[in-house]
Amino acid sequence: MGESMSGLKRSHMCCDVTESMVGSEVTVMGWVQRRRDLGQLIFIALRDRTGIIQAVVDGTSEEELFKKAETVRSEYVLAIKGKVAARTPENINENMKTGKIEIIAEELRILSESETPPFQIEESINVNDELRLKYRYLDLRRPNIYKNIVLRHKVCQVTRKFLSDEGFLEIETPMLTKSTPEGARDYLVPSRVHPGKFYALPQSPQLFKQLLMVSGMDRYFQIARCFRDEDLRADRQPEFTQIDMELSFVEQEDIMDINERLIKTVFKEVLGVDVKTPFKRMTWKEGMERFGSDKPDTRFGMELKNISDIVKDTEFGVFKNAISSGGSVRAINAEGCGHMPRKQIDKLVEFVKTYKAKGLAWIAVNDDGSIKSQITKFFTPEKMDEIVKAMNGKPGDLILICADKDKVVFDSLGALRLEMAKRLNLTNPKDYNFLWITEFPMLEWDEEENRFVAEHHPFTSPMDEDLDLLDTNPGAVRAKAYDMVLNGIELGGGSIRIHRSDIQKKMFHIIGLSDETANEKFGYLLEAFKYGVPPHGGLAFGLDRLVMLMCGASTIRDVIAFPKVKDATCLLTDAPNTVDQSQLDELSICIVNKKEH
Ligand code: AMO
Ligand code: AMP
Repeated sequence: MGESMSGLKRSHMCCDVTESMVGSEVTVMGWVQRRRDLGQLIFIALRDRTGIIQAVVDGTSEEELFKKAETVRSEYVLAIKGKVAARTPENINENMKTGKIEIIAEELRILSESETPPFQIEESINVNDELRLKYRYLDLRRPNIYKNIVLRHKVCQVTRKFLSDEGFLEIETPMLTKSTPEGARDYLVPSRVHPGKFYALPQSPQLFKQLLMVSGMDRYFQIARCFRDEDLRADRQPEFTQIDMELSFVEQEDIMDINERLIKTVFKEVLGVDVKTPFKRMTWKEGMERFGSDKPDTRFGMELKNISDIVKDTEFGVFKNAISSGGSVRAINAEGCGHMPRKQIDKLVEFVKTYKAKGLAWIAVNDDGSIKSQITKFFTPEKMDEIVKAMNGKPGDLILICADKDKVVFDSLGALRLEMAKRLNLTNPKDYNFLWITEFPMLEWDEEENRFVAEHHPFTSPMDEDLDLLDTNPGAVRAKAYDMVLNGIELGGGSIRIHRSDIQKKMFHIIGLSDETANEKFGYLLEAFKYGVPPHGGLAFGLDRLVMLMCGASTIRDVIAFPKVKDATCLLTDAPNTVDQSQLDELSICIVNKKEH
């Protein structure tokens, strides 16, 4: 049931009605936030996306109007026409943008009724996430979520304008494309016309944007949807959005410069925040050594220190063995945590085990400077002092030590460092600490597949200085790749691409792709590169992550209108879902061993 709005035209959004309009007639439309009935006086708080305005229906109004106002409930959709009036001083609400005025209703139409919503549409109520996502359209009515969507819109608009002004062309690339090896798992789309064949949804527009450089487009950008079938986390969704770009005739410095200016402009225009450029830079190696991470949060210290030299000659087998087998012993100082109860320290040990650490040693410095530790028996008091000194340990500090292969030590202490910072409340989300990580290793050894895989992607150029190592020690080759990091989150990444076919061939060879497979999977790119390819490179930002950090949200779900949950389902639509047998038949698909989840 609902009345027509015919004959009524909205004159203002709710919060665009101001004090200067007292006495004039306005028509507003929106949802009922709440109705207060004082017998002879009914107040209706009407909400649209700009906010709330109060309308008043009093006993002196027409009977029909008053009766109708009495039937109004939360979330009904109304049109209200009336005169703007100043509130009497005792009724002024300083917390509302329209708190000094109200509309004296002369006409009220119920455009649509509403059932009682499953949760109240209020900014600060605590609603269970599942319910929020099942009724996401209601959740989006809440000002705090709506605000995120607006911020995202602004980021997109500023980005488009900035890049267009810099000579970039916005070009769309296909969603139905070819499955490629490397990278994450693909989402596949079966072809009806070609039974048994599949398209893949793009993990990124990477190859198309490189082809656009071969086409002479010179500078491309796209706000591009990407699809990756991987395990989800707070900052990962199966479909997400990149601000994706590619540029011809540029070097790493040019790309970094443009992107620093893009970010500076976006932060200034959307948040009014001045971001200092140029950003700090750190090599990948330095990031690992100092922070145990290729995306360090540099808002606080608690840096890792290598104490291998100090402990290498002790009798403690765990430390000795780690070092002699090529690993290391490193530590962090969680300042002020020396009083942590044993039980909690044991939990930290469990925490690092999820990063494959075999254990975690600790030294607590007591208030009187003496020490408490479970490894004292392996060390002389002098050695213990030496470790504490090296870690700058003061009374009340807790030194946490890990011994293992470098990768395990970095992963464990890197994660522990973040965990301790969280507990100690060392970070402020409004502190924007931008950082470039450079000189990534080009390859990573994949233990499961027993081969090298590209750390970024197989089209990333090696650093000129390391070209010779391609033949002799590929694992040591550094790439012309760079990531932009903000507060411990990888915001974006890119690289200068290989544009020489001999190097590209070598790269495929190193990651174990035969000429045949390379041709089958990437033949169109290799073919294109025969016809004049400009030196080129690019970068892609995770738009969702950028907006998340700008909103101060803790998950990218809060900045995506219709996100999916951890198991990649959509609680609103119930996707993915089964389909009719006839649809499967049409696609020549037969489901076997259907797994029940
Ligand atoms: P990359 O794979 O590093 O590079 O992706 C670029 C950025 O996209 C974001 N991102 C994600 N965001 C949300 N959910 C995900 N599942 C997800 N995966 C990645 C990250 C990341 O930094 N084609 C290259 C870019 C290039 O070389 O130009 C690429 O896709 O913020
Ligand atoms: P253990 O001799 O195995 O009982 O180990 C003695 C102490 O060293 C224990 O408290 C462990 O937590 C710690 N430890 C064990 N393995 C490691 C490791 N890889 N790195 C740091 N400490 C460890």
